Amino acid sequence: MQTRDSQLRGKVAIVTGAGRGIGRAIALAYARQGAAVCCAARSMGQVQETAAQICAEGGRAIAVCTDVADFESVERMVREAEEAFGGLDIVVINAGVGGAQQSVEASDQQTWRTTIEVNLIGAYHCAKAAVPALKRRGGGKVIAVGSGLGQRGIAGVSDYACSKAGLWMLTRVLAQELAQHGISVNQLIPGPVVTQMTGDQMARNTFEGEWAKSPEDVAPLALFLATQPEPGPTGQNFSLMRRDT
Ligand SMILES: NC(=O)c1ccc[n+]([C@@H]2O[C@H](COP(=O)([O-])OP(=O)(O)OC[C@H]3O[C@@H](n4cnc5c(N)ncnc54)[C@H](OP(=O)(O)O)[C@@H]3O)[C@@H](O)[C@H]2O)c1
Repeated sequence: MQTRDSQLRGKVAIVTGAGRGIGRAIALAYARQGAAVCCAARSMGQVQETAAQICAEGGRAIAVCTDVADFESVERMVREAEEAFGGLDIVVINAGVGGAQQSVEASDQQTWRTTIEVNLIGAYHCAKAAVPALKRRGGGKVIAVGSGLGQRGIAGVSDYACSKAGLWMLTRVLAQELAQHGISVNQLIPGPVVTQMTGDQMARNTFEGEWAKSPEDVAPLALFLATQPEPGPTGQNFSLMRRDT
């Protein structure tokens, strides 16, 4: 049994991409602070496993099969979280794909389009579907998991970098639209984390000089952003990188 704290007692969170990697670590960390967590991704078995671990530790969680690229699926996710736990306070827009890892010239159009559809349009879907629920609660937090590559493009990652550059602009625009409603919107940049997404790149030592961290190392910043007072920071970028983002 994990130690249970109460920084998020009474709060309800949705974490997209909670089946593995960074999203799973954030979902577990929030639940250990008392939040009820809606764990969402396409692989139902993985999100069920995250939710089961939360429940086994004495927390509250549901697993929802969601494709963030599909707006109806995202609306269903928000509805299920509200119905299960009576509201929504925190949305972590974390679900993402790593992209083609190819030059523009070598890349294939469908992969490029899919990266944008998941990482950027998927984030837009999550925000659009969640905002009415956050307003019903009188405030809340939106945390977008971005990337340093969205600010500092490098060769061979055009689809991923463009999707995350767009996510950063969505964060800033949304923060201004929602400030008057007590909803803060910030971006969390994890820097390199050892997950399924980065396995190959870690093996090639692409991140020399960086802090190659575990998903659990990202959870304290996600918790910080979920527990700031209102008014608190909004439209800001919080990074765990060692280089300039
Ligand atoms: N790892 C890093 O070094 C790093 C660095 C900077 C930023 N990030 C960002 O951190 C986030 C999480 O990455 P990660 O490294 O934890 O990757 P990961 O281990 O591959 O996990 C990605 C999660 O997103 C879900 N997902 C992917 N496509 C989805 C879709 N269409 N609808 C719903 N869920 C979807 C995956 O589940 P399903 O495939 O089952 O749907 C999985 O649960 C991403 O946004 C990534 O860009 C990661």
